[in-house]
Amino acid sequence: MVTKLDRPALLGGAPVRTAPFPAWPQFDEREERNLLDVLHSREWGTHAGGRMLPEFERRFAAYQHAEYGIAVANGSVALETAFFAAGFAPGDEIITTPYTFIATTTAILRAGARPVYVDIEPDTYQIDARQIEAAITPRTKGIVPVHLGGCPADMDRILDVARRHGLLVIEDACQAWGAEWRGRRVGALGDAGTFSFQTSKNITAGEGGIVVTNRRDLYERCWSYRNVGRIPGGAWYQHEILGWNYRLTEFQAAILLAQLERLPEQTRQRTTSARYLNERLARIPGIAPMRLDERVTQHAWHLYMLRYDPAGFQGLPRARFLEALQAEGIPASPGYREPLPAVPAVQRAIRASIADGGASWTPPPLPVTERACTLEAVWLPQNVLLGTREDLDSIVAAIEKIQRHAAELARD
Ligand SMILES: Cc1ncc(COP(=O)(O)O)c(C=O)c1O
Repeated sequence: MVTKLDRPALLGGAPVRTAPFPAWPQFDEREERNLLDVLHSREWGTHAGGRMLPEFERRFAAYQHAEYGIAVANGSVALETAFFAAGFAPGDEIITTPYTFIATTTAILRAGARPVYVDIEPDTYQIDARQIEAAITPRTKGIVPVHLGGCPADMDRILDVARRHGLLVIEDACQAWGAEWRGRRVGALGDAGTFSFQTSKNITAGEGGIVVTNRRDLYERCWSYRNVGRIPGGAWYQHEILGWNYRLTEFQAAILLAQLERLPEQTRQRTTSARYLNERLARIPGIAPMRLDERVTQHAWHLYMLRYDPAGFQGLPRARFLEALQAEGIPASPGYREPLPAVPAVQRAIRASIADGGASWTPPPLPVTERACTLEAVWLPQNVLLGTREDLDSIVAAIEKIQRHAAELARD
């Protein structure tokens, strides 16, 4: 078994590539023009409504097949805003996934509610919707699926169980701009959904976020929450609820408008690249691309995830495989470190949210998430998928090279 990374032997000299993958974020004269337009307008904030911001909200909501969009400072507060609007409150249980960015869980806890975790599917890493019904109790208020990596979760099952039990569905679509489930874009498939525009995201203004919904009541509550409790058409110092200032600036909206124009073409390119990688990598023993449900009519490809099995690499542990891939010039990472209920800060907050101080709570067993985090998952970032065919071939070549060298080492 190969456990050590013997650099010269395993890496075999010169790396497969030294050139960087396409830089991220990308911009051109459209961002420059819009930014200068805002600068000269002297209307930099959006407290008075703005010009770029309402235009972006309208266009992004339409892009996601939603009626309303409420742009906010980032994806984390988009979740908080949506949960506030939906009425998540102390005593509520919210069923969600343990395999996501911590903000999904933190926002549930900030609303005073308690996250209840069900495990993920082993071959998609999305929430295992078949396990949701068994997790429902009289305290369950909602379901928060995450379209992880840009791949829609099983929304048929999620919406069906929510309808039968009278539960709210708030989609964390922070990685899923343009993603579609059976031809309908994610975000407003349930009650509301959230998106992030943070730097690494497929459409970015450095920071930013938005809530989309088809429900007028949720739109109005989100609008107020973002605007320190004001109401549309109300007086400046009239505050009907305790909201907060979660506004974006006009500069961010200016960048986002330009980014949104580029998104459809980039999504097409990422899709073509991901299909090519799926096809090539599926042939390598020990490498398994994620299963694509045929009801996913568009994947946003924020992450290109695959499952690594050391058995195909003479027992080489994932950490060594990743180190070797990075040395070959491929920006691979292991992704999330642990299931969210294993994070001590999350555990403390969950215990504090339970009447008995949490004495009755133990972290749930989540074997599939545990395996993904500690043994199996390999992630590539979205900008890799904007590369050329040669860039994609270099990923395949690097993996094949590591496999070859692992086999040679095992023979020696
Ligand atoms: C699934 C998910 N939810 C929420 C967030 C939070 O978004 P932001 O970083 O914009 O606060 C992110 C972004 O990193 C995310 O990936």
